[in-house]
Amino acid sequence: MTATMSRRFAAQNALGYDARIVNLVPGYAELHEISAAVLAARLPERARVLVVGAGTGTETLALAQQNPGWELVGVDPSADMLAIARRRAAAESLDTVTFHEGYVGDLADEKPFDAAVSLLVMHFVAGDDEKRDYLADIAGRLRPGAPLLLCDLMEHDEDDLDVMAEYAAARGVGAEAHAGIRQRLQTDFFPLDDDALRALAAETGFTAPRPYFRGVAFAANELRRS
Ligand SMILES: C[S@@+](CC[C@H](N)C(=O)[O-])C[C@H]1O[C@@H](n2cnc3c(N)ncnc32)[C@H](O)[C@@H]1O
Repeated sequence: MTATMSRRFAAQNALGYDARIVNLVPGYAELHEISAAVLAARLPERARVLVVGAGTGTETLALAQQNPGWELVGVDPSADMLAIARRRAAAESLDTVTFHEGYVGDLADEKPFDAAVSLLVMHFVAGDDEKRDYLADIAGRLRPGAPLLLCDLMEHDEDDLDVMAEYAAARGVGAEAHAGIRQRLQTDFFPLDDDALRALAAETGFTAPRPYFRGVAFAANELRRS
């Protein structure tokens, strides 16, 4: 994780994350709801799901609540984000959930997963080689045919940024704050276009991405482990 990124998901930034993210990612709640529906449509009553970049636990906890027969394993390098996720899991007495601080490659767990989710994470992974390693590490944990739900900020233009600024403004984000965010979208994110994503998926053992949701430039795709 870069120094900028570790700051972004540390301390006060981690504490404010849940309130902030819904204003900055158009369709954040819907993304999570539809991702849960895709997994529910694909998986049986008993399944193991890997949540990469679990953050404050939003998708992990929702999946656990909706699917008591599933075992959820969340991975994230930010101790501060995971502290919130663990507190929330404890408050809801969810015992089918575990969180690991670190990266997918650090997981000692050798049992294959039936599915993986990576929501709003890979766009922070800089460079094609690093993204290739990121996806290959996930592929290595999945059984053949298992879905990976992947959502990231994709290549975008000024028109998209204008729409995202208006979306944030309508939700109460001030113009100054949004100017900073607009700047960081250019410097701290590493978006792919659809062709590059398709190529990376093929190289790392996944089928062609199948789109299932889009909020302006944030696009969600279902990939299958080949
Ligand atoms: C924008 S948050 C998304 C959290 C959650 N998935 C959500 O939808 O709210 C991105 C998270 O990815 C984590 N992260 C960054 N790089 C990662 C990597 N290479 N592997 C796993 N998690 C990573 C960050 O620490 C952060 O918690």
